[in-house]
Amino acid sequence: MADMKSVLVTGGAGFIGANLVRLLLEHGYAVTVLDNLSTGRREYLDGLRIQFIEGDILDVELVNEVVPGHNGIVHLAAQTGVPGSVADPRRDCEVNVIGTLNLLPGRHRPSVNAVRQRAPEAGLPAAARLHAVPDAGAGEPAQARRVPRVQPARGSV
Ligand SMILES: NC(=O)c1ccc[n+]([C@@H]2O[C@H](COP(=O)([O-])OP(=O)(O)OC[C@H]3O[C@@H](n4cnc5c(N)ncnc54)[C@H](O)[C@@H]3O)[C@@H](O)[C@H]2O)c1
Repeated sequence: MADMKSVLVTGGAGFIGANLVRLLLEHGYAVTVLDNLSTGRREYLDGLRIQFIEGDILDVELVNEVVPGHNGIVHLAAQTGVPGSVADPRRDCEVNVIGTLNLLPGRHRPSVNAVRQRAPEAGLPAAARLHAVPDAGAGEPAQARRVPRVQPARGSV
């Protein structure tokens, strides 16, 4: 984690994610948030200098477009509600298991050198020990964007 400069936070509009994003910005990281806003709130990130991408971790094409260029991922996107889990356990499994699988490093995203899935009991302050980047920080509005789709090359798999 020592060389980490640009961090993707999945679920960054959620309870833990929004707090972590602030912490990362305070320590100089450039932050991208990927969140489908199913339970998270965009307002939690108001006023922060981040790149916000509204999207789903089950959207493999989107994930493959977003992940490259980041030095690491803090994976917090999850279906966390018990009622939702009981009502639709398949969806629960897809988001929490397949969604995590989608974010694991692969040949198509060689720049990612770390994936961190944190539980609160592990302690958020650990993120503060990531080394700081001097030219990034909080203070400017979050920018929303949809990532443009990359057309596969003709004949590619
Ligand atoms: N809050 C706690 O006390 C607690 C305790 C133990 C573990 N955790 C774990 O920490 C992580 C985050 O918890 P939280 O409390 O911040 O939850 P949360 O529900 O507040 O945040 C989850 C975020 O993920 C987003 N999300 C959900 N499905 C998504 C998808 N398919 N694609 C993209 N974004 C998606 C939601 O919109 C939300 O912003 C979870 O893995 C949770 O299990 C939390």
